[in-house]
Amino acid sequence: MRILLLNGPNLGRLGQRRPDIYGQTTLAEVVARATDHAAARGATLDHLQSNHEGALIDRLELLDYDGVVINPGALGHTSYALRDALEGVERPAVEVHISDVYRRETFRHTLVLEDAVVGQVIGRGVDGYLEAIDLLLDHLAGRA
Ligand code: DQA
Repeated sequence: MRILLLNGPNLGRLGQRRPDIYGQTTLAEVVARATDHAAARGATLDHLQSNHEGALIDRLELLDYDGVVINPGALGHTSYALRDALEGVERPAVEVHISDVYRRETFRHTLVLEDAVVGQVIGRGVDGYLEAIDLLLDHLAGRA
């Protein structure tokens, strides 16, 4: 199975930006752990982080993957374009948020990708990426 891992705006600064909320692990470390986790389950993982909505959509449109794990960052609260792209590519996707968005500012309580994904992992720290990979692979295997 081929997993596409997408990280949206500001996640390139993971480990430096608001470590009190997002922790001290860098994005490179997250991607390395996610790649190893996927490999242990016989899957490959390709990663893109972008601060640009269109770049994320362009990557989705390549369709060279079986499923998606996506932390959309703040685009998860606002982007109907990303929502439509996820729906349009017809590949299962799992949404990740490192922090518990429901315990933060009210604008973070709206998750517009919700009905275009097969699952969400919210507020589990960076381990949430690994849980999302498991959810996605279980879904792809027809077990979830
Ligand atoms: C985030 C939560 C978003 O509200 C925020 O804009 C982010 C990170 C998270 O992983 O907790 O950039 O997606």
